[in-house]
Amino acid sequence: MIDVLTRIKDQAQQDIAQALEFESLNQVRVGILGRKGEITQVLRGLKDLDGEQRIEVGRIANEIKGELEGLIEAKTQQLKAQELEMMLQSERIDITLPGRPVPTGSQHPISRVTDEIKTIFIGMGFTVAEGPEVEMDYYNFEALNVPRDHPARDMQDTFYITEDMLLRTHTSPVQVRTMENMAPRIPVKIIVPGRVYRKDDDATHSPMFHQVEGLLIDERITFANLKAMLMLLAREVFGADVKVRYRPSYFPFTEPSAEMDISCVNCGGEGCRVCKQTGWLEILGAGMVDPRVLEYGGYDPEKYTGLAFGMGIERIAMLKYKINDMRLLFDNDKRFLSQF
Ligand code: DAH
Repeated sequence: MIDVLTRIKDQAQQDIAQALEFESLNQVRVGILGRKGEITQVLRGLKDLDGEQRIEVGRIANEIKGELEGLIEAKTQQLKAQELEMMLQSERIDITLPGRPVPTGSQHPISRVTDEIKTIFIGMGFTVAEGPEVEMDYYNFEALNVPRDHPARDMQDTFYITEDMLLRTHTSPVQVRTMENMAPRIPVKIIVPGRVYRKDDDATHSPMFHQVEGLLIDERITFANLKAMLMLLAREVFGADVKVRYRPSYFPFTEPSAEMDISCVNCGGEGCRVCKQTGWLEILGAGMVDPRVLEYGGYDPEKYTGLAFGMGIERIAMLKYKINDMRLLFDNDKRFLSQF
């Protein structure tokens, strides 16, 4: 009996040592210690042995059982450690690798320029006002001193919703809307960024574009105030070296009216293709608010004067960033947009 036990033990030790995975180790365990296992059977057979032999065999069998349980446990731990090691080998994570970049967007050049202009005027005490893009003919033309048969309407042909309602052709209607809301309080000191619409479509004109309007009404506002503020604007946007000049112009809602040019951003004023050899680039329209418009807005032109100006954002962005086709601004091409 003891020989049998010794053989079982030797065989089991070998089997345990040779088990390479949990599965085979478990088979070994069941074969020895399971319900029908070899040791289990020996222990069950004890009752057939007589006194001393039963004690002796029982003791040895239990000893071997304990020993083998210990070996199996040790092997189990060893296999677990091996498995973990293998996992770490195959799933090696290099924590020094740079992370995958998360692409972030950038601000659109139109928004950048709009924000820049807003910031400049907010710094001079202006507040931001807005108005509807679907506008009444009255605010877009009539109250700006452009009656129905006025030839100035030709230059601003647009999309009509009804005879009296249209997509606004400029941000100027917000001048009158704001005056109506504020009269008779002074000062009226607003800038108006927003989208405007016209029947135009080529490399330098889009049927939808952006403007920023400015309006300042108070006592004793003069053309000198206008010049000072627009000079500051030009320098902030295009650099301290930029020169400006005013040319007389005509707008029905200002009197007198002017257009402001800046020295060419491409050639500095010498004359090139961008400025058509003139050295100058037109960037905005401006003037002193026409007395009729003040009246429409509810301000007494005998008591108050006002200055106004309006500029196209696309044009300023194109000059500032040297963009040669306006359509690039609306194509949503990331290769273009990511440059800003
Ligand atoms: N509204 C004009 C346009 O779109 C621009 C303009 C000119 C606005 C003179 C003004 C101004 O406020 O005083 O062409």
